[in-house]
Amino acid sequence: MSKKIFSGVQPTGNLHIGNYIGAINNFVNFQNQENTTCIYCVVDLHAITVRQNPAELKNNVRETIAAFVASGLDYNKSIIFQQSMVPAHSEGAWILGCSARMGWLNRMTQFKEKAGKDKEKASVGLYVYPVLMASDILLYDTTHVPVGEDQKQHLELTRDIAQKFNQDFNSPSFFKLPEPMIQKNFSRIMSLKDGVKKMSKSDPSEMSRINLNDSKDTIVNKIKKAKTDTLPLPGNEKELENRPEAKNLIGIYSSLSNQNVSKTMEEFSGKNFSDFKNKLSEIVIEKIYPISKEMNKLKKDQNFTDKILKEGTNKASEIASKKIKDIKNIIGF
Ligand code: TYM
Repeated sequence: MSKKIFSGVQPTGNLHIGNYIGAINNFVNFQNQENTTCIYCVVDLHAITVRQNPAELKNNVRETIAAFVASGLDYNKSIIFQQSMVPAHSEGAWILGCSARMGWLNRMTQFKEKAGKDKEKASVGLYVYPVLMASDILLYDTTHVPVGEDQKQHLELTRDIAQKFNQDFNSPSFFKLPEPMIQKNFSRIMSLKDGVKKMSKSDPSEMSRINLNDSKDTIVNKIKKAKTDTLPLPGNEKELENRPEAKNLIGIYSSLSNQNVSKTMEEFSGKNFSDFKNKLSEIVIEKIYPISKEMNKLKKDQNFTDKILKEGTNKASEIASKKIKDIKNIIGF
């Protein structure tokens, strides 16, 4: 069976190693698989659910494209495009919003977290954001969606919406039910300042995350100051359970060095954090700094990013506009 992979990243600046380890790095793995179509989207319509500065938004779209390419995505193998350039995404979101139920959206934890205490002042867009995500995914008959753990609930919602639409319009299997692809160990990279809080673009503290465009010195400094406990590193995974900061740093190290957690534990068992942090800085610099350098170069080359977007938009539009035509037909437009 052929696979269709779709995923999206918001162009909100501050792309960090959580985005890289949890999502972008995996995008690259799929593009070389046989019988697999890969579609990766810079989701600018999602970004405007919170206020964006227009000039920065433009720049962040280029930066996200640059991050995709610098991480190894090849625009000849994967379709890379900007969401707002393909109108079918917004059209689909409206139509699917009529299948989605209020009760389902009310359960979305990410909305609750992002809206915070002042939910009355959150944008309507932020509330219906997961419906737009469903539109993104369903328009391409996506079979698999590589994402971090934080997007799991949105994917369950996507499946519910697809099922309801198929049922209501008596069109069994019109929308495919996509499978989430969430990595077992590294799907939730935590803040460097607090091992129980997710590493996030919107955390006000720069020290909480390693950005893809951090300099070498900044990387070393952030790792040096990362929160830890006072015990030496344990020898087995069970002992990590109540040590969220150690667990997180070991996860980052394991993922970037492509080895499982138990191998890393063997390597550092009984060592103190300062030794481990030196090694962690080395691997982060080895893996992330070349991406950072390439990203900075590519994002300045506007002709290059524009060319990728133009080609990607054409390819994505062809698929999405056909699906939206079928959707309209089914609902009687
Ligand atoms: P966004 O832009 O917040 O994040 C992009 C990707 O990075 C993952 N991620 C993480 N993974 C591990 N640890 C972390 N600390 C971490 N922080 C972020 C996210 O899970 C995501 O995979 N709504 C989505 C974008 C989107 C999308 C889609 C994704 C829009 N449409 C369709 C898949 C399919 C978002 O805001 O991701």
